[in-house]
Amino acid sequence: MNELQQRQLAAATAYMQQVLGQDHSGHSVDHIQRVVRLTTTICQQEQVAVFVPVLAATLHDVIDDKVVSDVETARQELRDFLTMQQVSVTEQAEIWQIIDRLSFSKNLVHKQQLSLNGQIVQDADRLDAIGAIGIARTFYYGGHTGAAMYDPAIKPRTQMDKSAYRKQSPVINHFYEKLLLLQDSMNTASAKKIAAQRQQVMLDFLAEFKAEWNGDV
Ligand code: ADP
Ligand code: NI
Repeated sequence: MNELQQRQLAAATAYMQQVLGQDHSGHSVDHIQRVVRLTTTICQQEQVAVFVPVLAATLHDVIDDKVVSDVETARQELRDFLTMQQVSVTEQAEIWQIIDRLSFSKNLVHKQQLSLNGQIVQDADRLDAIGAIGIARTFYYGGHTGAAMYDPAIKPRTQMDKSAYRKQSPVINHFYEKLLLLQDSMNTASAKKIAAQRQQVMLDFLAEFKAEWNGDV
């Protein structure tokens, strides 16, 4: 990264910290820091320049409707910020493409095309939703929304059943509805490798959770 890019990235990090500093919905500053590190690691392994992916990773949640009350205002503020930081028009276009197409829910409808830079940030964001951190974030989020931990009577919603999305699914169901499916959606070979290890952590956790729930000591 050149000096201008380093300055732009530092400013974007401060901007992100200001927006996400108070978040308790799973989009906290530490989530962003992990996604940035994973993005850097994947870029290095895939031999891709880090600047655009890391900038997009840093900013990927600052316009999310779960985080800001007014998405249009948040978008305008981010546009102004990027222009003020002299991020080039081409780079700005790619940043917007990445953060707009990143989210899993948008991809449920039909798979959106992403540049390699975008695929890397998407992989990093998805990796932070699985494994030990994924387990922790999911229970943290469930506590935040008041969901039950587990209810064996409520079956996980299947892939066929997308329209019947229940916001208050028990936390354990979220693993079957989303988290265990993320492994197969990784774009890069580097992310697939990390995902395989994290998948096993979740499978072991679910088996142990159910054994303890059932009193199978
Ligand atoms: P992002 O926008 O970073 O891709 P989400 O907003 O979908 O992530 O979710 C943030 C965190 O909250 C994730 O770790 C996710 O697994 C968890 N989460 C999202 N929806 C649910 C749910 N219905 N039940 C439990 N956890 C959830
Ligand atoms: Ni995220």
